[in-house]
Amino acid sequence: MEKGKEQKVAVVTGSSTGIGFETSLLLARNGFYTYATMRNTKKSETIEKIASKENLPLKVLPLDVDSLDSVRNTIDKILDEKNKIDILVNNAGYGLFGALEDISIQEVKQQFETNFFGAIRTIKQVLPSMREQKNGMIINISSISGKVGFPAECIYVSTKFALEGLSESISYELGAYGIKVILIEPGVINSNFVPNIKFPVRPGEKLKKDVPAEEFSEIKTQSCTKNTDKKNLSHYSNTIDVFLSHYYPAMKNAPLPKEVALLILESIKNATNSSESLYRYLIGEDAKVFGRAKDNLSDSEFYQFVSKRVLT
Ligand SMILES: NC(=O)c1ccc[n+]([C@@H]2O[C@H](COP(=O)([O-])OP(=O)(O)OC[C@H]3O[C@@H](n4cnc5c(N)ncnc54)[C@H](OP(=O)(O)O)[C@@H]3O)[C@@H](O)[C@H]2O)c1
Repeated sequence: MEKGKEQKVAVVTGSSTGIGFETSLLLARNGFYTYATMRNTKKSETIEKIASKENLPLKVLPLDVDSLDSVRNTIDKILDEKNKIDILVNNAGYGLFGALEDISIQEVKQQFETNFFGAIRTIKQVLPSMREQKNGMIINISSISGKVGFPAECIYVSTKFALEGLSESISYELGAYGIKVILIEPGVINSNFVPNIKFPVRPGEKLKKDVPAEEFSEIKTQSCTKNTDKKNLSHYSNTIDVFLSHYYPAMKNAPLPKEVALLILESIKNATNSSESLYRYLIGEDAKVFGRAKDNLSDSEFYQFVSKRVLT
């Protein structure tokens, strides 16, 4: 931290692994007092060890973005301790992949609960203090899937489109209070995101009723192709498999979470020195290629462009 400057306070959700883990460490290494929050603090050993070894201003607190009580308790505790929050990084999230026909309404709701309502919960909890201090940054980890629709990702894409719409809209409300909104839009990143992707519990099955809660809580990470129960194979297996045959290998050369963390730090520095209210950053060659194509092609050209790349 620069001498004489008040220490900035940052809160990062989903810091147990991946982008959240690296972002928490990088912000702490750059002088931010960083609350590395995670829903399961049993996963905090590694980050705490590093923080203690490097003597970083980093503290782990529990925060499950699905729970309003959890969000409220932790944000209140931070405000009690530090009296302010300067930076909120909404990072917690996961991917639900599969064809729409195969996905139950509970699975859809759960995906929105974490990726979209989770972000809304934390934003609403920090806004009163940011508005009063007339300063703050809300950094939402969106995705290229927040700009472009892909097969096999329809619900994940929908959560990220929603996050983009929310971010763009609130930037008009918050600009007058000096609160800046930043969207980070990664392509494929080499984190635990891919192994953590969830697929529908009952692909191919016509659901007469919704999946019972107790079964739903045990959604397994499984590929439709690995599903040996023929009865449960999706009508859309071929589409999903072709998409995944492009998606999984893309991981090999994908940027690491550390690179996303560096971009987040850079975005904070840029926003500090600028008066704009909304910022967007793509990261990853794939994200840039699809982003550019969306900006420059007609709808029908763009449809062909995406189809050729992910469905053949
Ligand atoms: N990796 C990519 O290819 C990619 C691309 C574009 C965007 N993104 C976005 O980047 C963000 C971070 O993903 P990642 O790549 O770092 O994946 P990751 O390694 O799987 O990390 C996801 C993090 O979110 C946490 N999380 C999930 N549900 C939560 C909840 N209800 N409350 C609090 N934390 C929760 C996980 O905690 P647990 O350890 O407890 O599960 C984990 O810490 C996500 O929003 C994702 O959509 C990722």
